[in-house]
Amino acid sequence: MSNYHIKHLEEYFQVYRKSVREPENFWEEIAEEHFIWRKKWDKVLSWDFTKPEVKWFEGAQLNITENCIDRHLATRGDKTAILFEPNNPDEPAEHITYKQLYERVNKFANVLKAQGIKKGDRVCIYVPMIPELAVSMLACARIGAIHSVVFAGFSAKALSTRINDAECKMVITSDGSYRGAKTIDLKGIVDDALENCSCVETVLVAKRINSDITMKEGRDKWLQPLLDKASPKGKAEVMNAEDPLFILYTSGSTGMPKGMVHTTAGYMVYTAFSFKNAFQYREKDVYWCTADIGWITGHSYIVYGPLANGATTVMFEGVPSYPDFGRFWQIVEKHKVNQFYTAPTAIRALAKQGVELVEKHDLSSLKVLGSVGEPINEEAWHWYNDNIGKRNAPIIDSWWQTETGGIMISPIPYVTPTKPTYATLPFPGIQPCLRDEEGKELKGNQVSGRLCIKFPWPSMARTIWGNHQRYKETYFSAFDEMYFTGDGALRDEVGYYRITGRVDDVIIVSGHNLGTAPIEDAVNEHPAVVESAIVGFPHDVKGNALYGYVILKDTGESRNHDNLRKEINQVITEHVGPIAKLDKIQFTEGLPKTRSGKIMRRILRKIAHNDTSNLGDTSTLLNPEVVESIIEGAKDYK
Ligand code: WTA
Repeated sequence: MSNYHIKHLEEYFQVYRKSVREPENFWEEIAEEHFIWRKKWDKVLSWDFTKPEVKWFEGAQLNITENCIDRHLATRGDKTAILFEPNNPDEPAEHITYKQLYERVNKFANVLKAQGIKKGDRVCIYVPMIPELAVSMLACARIGAIHSVVFAGFSAKALSTRINDAECKMVITSDGSYRGAKTIDLKGIVDDALENCSCVETVLVAKRINSDITMKEGRDKWLQPLLDKASPKGKAEVMNAEDPLFILYTSGSTGMPKGMVHTTAGYMVYTAFSFKNAFQYREKDVYWCTADIGWITGHSYIVYGPLANGATTVMFEGVPSYPDFGRFWQIVEKHKVNQFYTAPTAIRALAKQGVELVEKHDLSSLKVLGSVGEPINEEAWHWYNDNIGKRNAPIIDSWWQTETGGIMISPIPYVTPTKPTYATLPFPGIQPCLRDEEGKELKGNQVSGRLCIKFPWPSMARTIWGNHQRYKETYFSAFDEMYFTGDGALRDEVGYYRITGRVDDVIIVSGHNLGTAPIEDAVNEHPAVVESAIVGFPHDVKGNALYGYVILKDTGESRNHDNLRKEINQVITEHVGPIAKLDKIQFTEGLPKTRSGKIMRRILRKIAHNDTSNLGDTSTLLNPEVVESIIEGAKDYK
């Protein structure tokens, strides 16, 4: 029996049991059979969740790009590796074969080396969804530089925070980007960000929109002329199994984002294994994940997982609404996409448009549909199933996180019977459990609690860049000796998991994780603001939207509230990015606080949800009278 590719339910249970009983043998067999190594490991796993420290395949040496590119050359050299679909439907798609990818990655790697980038250096990649994004990541991995991709929708402030935290020596960007009918001045954002980053020596600029930009003498260089001169050959750097592969930032409950560090061997083995199974990928399939590579979904399931399996992976530059809301379906038809992986927020936005634009296209190539990023509600699940899959393509509702590196709980299509809104069963090697608020493990079925993972898995993040203590406190302190996910979940009568949502201060808006603290910090920067508190409330397209309670300074003058709201959202756009704008802003005289000065968000959440019948225990409040006035004020916002 090969553990690598599960084909029926009985096999899943067998494989799962083995992965729990003999985790080391289980992962060792997969690692032996399906990857190439410069040197095999001395030990499969060592771990201690109290430190916490986890090492997989210790002593092994490899380069992930040899697994994602070189080893396919003999058998798949002319197969399309990356299928680039531009923003503009009239611009031709680009088929980059494995052979071409090999040459492009080597050229880019040689440019990085010539610019002084060495193993272990950090390189920030702030590039839109164009091939250079994937190529530059692989080029970093090829020479052992650690990439830190920052989503090219983040503001200059957010970008500079991330560059400084990782002390990046280089930034890779483009002149600008296309987003539907708009263009975005990315280089201008980089220039602003770099006003505050002394660590950056070089900026490489790809040309995409041919805009007029300023190049800073000695720092900024056009990429193409350097690539033209570079050799298409090059040896991959030999990396240790636990050498960092990349840093990727995710929101936390304080203002500073967390730079999650993923390492080489375990990440490769797990993303490859999970890609193969979660999508039941077969050799001739065309696979498309609509995420941006700036998020973990794109890292693991546009770039590394698919390429490690020699797959054809579609990379789409544009947005679902341009030139019209049929764009996704037009692309599925054009490239005969077999597996399609998207987010509930996109499904809800497209469902709102009706089925006319869907029916214009032949979607019969679709075999598997995926959902990720937030809970998928029942209505969206059925719309996706009925209209896109025509009840013929199973939906995999896959739960995982930036921190987990790969899919953790998900049906395996054609293997696990699906159930709307349920992520169903854990992947092999993943040992979830539920705990109550006191930390007691909830055994048996039909229970709900906080979702934890008991045992290490190969693709878990190993630390937070520069702050191991925070890693320990955030993930390993709430519950003894277990990884705590920050999510709540229930387990039904047959053992299926349903993720119910965050139980911390992270709010998921349109599939993007947003910490409330950095947004509050931004709001408080506005000169008229004394204090603010932000909570989420349900939104029919975005899943959640943001509701801000804001206390204004008493200047004795009256101010135009609508203008203030615009200004506050402008400050948020500058500090965090447009995705963090508030849908509702209520000005208030006070915020409910405990005697120790903590804002009682539970109450604010209830008010934002318009559910004030039972506010729970308010006796510990310092200022209970303020609650009534907030409820009264909220009536204007319904
Ligand atoms: C949420 C995205 C319900 C969850 C890969 C998690 C989900 C956070 C699902 C991580 C799902 C992700 N059902 N909730 N299928 N997938 N989430 O780091 O709250 O961007 O903790 O990783 O998204 O978001 P992140």
